[in-house]
Amino acid sequence: MNSRIPGFFKLSPEERLEKISQELHLSEEDKKVLTGNAGFTVENADRMIENTIGYLPVPLGLAANFKINSKDIFVPMATEEPSVVAAASNASKHAYESGGFTTTYTGSIMRGQIQVTNVKNPYFALAKIYENKGKIMQICNEQDSTLVSLGGGAKDIDVQIVETEIEKMVVVHLLVDTRDAMGANAVNTMAEAVTPFIEEITDGCVVLRILSNLADQRIVRARAIFKDPSLHGEGLKKFMDSYQLALFDPYRAATHNKGIMNGISAVVLATGNDTRAVEAGAHAYAAVSGRYRSLTHWELGENNELIGMIELPLAVGLIGGATQSHPVAKLVTKMLDVSSAEELAGIIAATGLAQNFAALKALAGDGIQKGHMKLHLKNIAVMAGATSEQIDEVVTKAIQKETHRFDDIKAIVEELRQRDRT
Ligand code: MEV
Repeated sequence: MNSRIPGFFKLSPEERLEKISQELHLSEEDKKVLTGNAGFTVENADRMIENTIGYLPVPLGLAANFKINSKDIFVPMATEEPSVVAAASNASKHAYESGGFTTTYTGSIMRGQIQVTNVKNPYFALAKIYENKGKIMQICNEQDSTLVSLGGGAKDIDVQIVETEIEKMVVVHLLVDTRDAMGANAVNTMAEAVTPFIEEITDGCVVLRILSNLADQRIVRARAIFKDPSLHGEGLKKFMDSYQLALFDPYRAATHNKGIMNGISAVVLATGNDTRAVEAGAHAYAAVSGRYRSLTHWELGENNELIGMIELPLAVGLIGGATQSHPVAKLVTKMLDVSSAEELAGIIAATGLAQNFAALKALAGDGIQKGHMKLHLKNIAVMAGATSEQIDEVVTKAIQKETHRFDDIKAIVEELRQRDRT
């Protein structure tokens, strides 16, 4: 498959779907699922959450031009934000010729925390917990024979003493290989099951038994070389200056990482994974050094290339949760043709890196408003009451008048309404 379809962005949604269907051999039924004509129902929604009254459709786009680990990929992105898909596609185009993105993954180890309070001698208890590691592993692994049969399960423990305002608490970390699942259910079940034994050996009182979203043993890295002829001299310097601020200033780093998460969360959502878990992990990881900083690193190459690297925890899976129960997410994952959480994590990280390249390039250049404006204007036109037939004309007139003010757009809509009435 070739992820570079010239003019893909210029096609209508129907034409794009047709092209993609040919590339990915989608059936008529698949197309109906993607376009909302089959697939997700209120019954699906009611099985997923409580007190359901309906569901909220979110646009699903495909970012083009991605080559990840030598494979061309259309990256599915579910987002309500204009410019995100265009930015990812544009950025990845500049990394394509130099080989695209290369990714690695440290494995699917998640941490489950068991908080033990009221322990008389915390260090003595810590030693006792390690002595009983075999039994702890055994109790945990009895909870999930399927995971164990797939080579996963509890693998190790890491016992920490945390000094709080009240006392020194003993915190037992279960290190669980969750393979191709995000793993929250498996880890939480194990943590709850082993609690009585932990209380017995520590003579303490267990309070929390829950997975940690700081998945620092589930790290994905992606790297790519971006060659963009429009970036040289002063432009490159400004790009690097922008990046530097995100390394040293948490106010900027928060926005810089938000832009990265625009890409990451969009793929996480499209594949039915837990956006909040990934976001919490990413931001916590950005602060592990004691200072909140950029999740990406940028270096200058010898020939005006920008060499980028992203590193973050990614707890995502292909099985469990909405990845299977949501018909669109399930189809999207099938379209991605990934066979492991590792592959999916690589795609997500690459998208985050591309998104960051696009944001820094825009910010260091003309700013982001210019690119945003057209889609943004469409939204304002709708808010101002434009009918679907009027939207494009309203946008054209607003661009001519160089305005994106709501009152101006409302006046344009009113003008068209008067004209169409006569
Ligand atoms: C907007 O959603 C994201 C940006 O603010 C990211 C950034 O500033 O790097 C453009």
